[in-house]
Amino acid sequence: METVVSGIRPTGRLHLGNYFGAMKNFLQMQETHNCFFFIADYHSLTTHPNPGDLRASVRKVLSEYLACGLDPDKCTLYVQSDLPETAELYLLLNMHAYAGELERSTTFKEKIRKQPDNINAGLLTYPVLMASDILIHRADKVPVGKDQEQHLEMTRTFGNRFNRMYREGFFPEPVAFNFGKKLVKVPGLDGSGKMGKSEGAGNAIFLSEDDASVKKKVMRAVTDAGPEKPNQEKPEVIENLFTLLKLVSTEETVKHFDDKYNDCSIRYGDMKKQLAEDMIRFIRPLSEQIRDTAADIKHIDRVIDLGREKARESAGKTMQEVRSLLGFRP
Ligand code: ADP
Ligand code: TRP
Repeated sequence: METVVSGIRPTGRLHLGNYFGAMKNFLQMQETHNCFFFIADYHSLTTHPNPGDLRASVRKVLSEYLACGLDPDKCTLYVQSDLPETAELYLLLNMHAYAGELERSTTFKEKIRKQPDNINAGLLTYPVLMASDILIHRADKVPVGKDQEQHLEMTRTFGNRFNRMYREGFFPEPVAFNFGKKLVKVPGLDGSGKMGKSEGAGNAIFLSEDDASVKKKVMRAVTDAGPEKPNQEKPEVIENLFTLLKLVSTEETVKHFDDKYNDCSIRYGDMKKQLAEDMIRFIRPLSEQIRDTAADIKHIDRVIDLGREKARESAGKTMQEVRSLLGFRP
């Protein structure tokens, strides 16, 4: 059976981008694959959150995983920092990762721009840690959104390099995976390309968001002055709204507004009202489930303990072989 690994950083609540880019695939894959899903809390240190928040965020994100339908009996749910094996593999892989290739990563360049006062070494080696997360379970598939493609490419580079140096075929070549073939990119509401928790305040719709707040954000979404001639191409901000509509509305609804755009009779206010309504219908059951799940901290902690045990068993096997291949004592 193929092995699957994926993680989400606990730097906030899950949003629709995380859901459609990652979680939706997690849910299908847990039925048919050997899955490891984790909370990437080491990774969140690259942006320095405070320790009190981190603990609470890890529990919160885990309760969101559970509320979405991830089942600890079907997959392994764990916290990244519960696996010292990952940290050890990261150390070893760092010796074979070159500064030049890490500096070329687009996410690193973006972070330099975003946090010029905190360009720490963890940011530079972020892809090495991510590669360790994946290679530690010798994964074949990695369900992620489009923004993670380059990190996956680097993971293959590090894995292949290790194989060439120590043992051909030791690490499989992990590929980004999406059931719908193409990797998903969910746009944000503020006209910026991508929905993300570190973007502006009105950009992301969270799974735990209440109805009024969803409505407010959607009604404020950026639009333009409207089409001037029939069947004209949609500018990016409008295309983005249609992309969101396609995720949560019926085909008829999408067609209705598409036709109206094409004959120039569209009123963006009406479209946003419909989008808000359909998003609320989609999110409400999830947000209710999240509230219930998050209340049972004991259960969450039991899931975390069980996950650590299962994940360490898999990671321990890999590390024993890695140590021996490198000439360290097992
Ligand atoms: P964020 O971008 O909000 O910080 P993460 O980087 O923690 O979220 O992303 C966790 C997972 O969710 C990754 O697999 C990522 O590809 C996916 N993801 C995040 N935002 C989007 C988006 N807007 N569209 C598609 N997938 C996304
Ligand atoms: N870098 C990913 C993100 O920002 C999170 C992540 C860390 C991850 N390690 C991973 C995703 C391993 C998949 C597999 O979204």
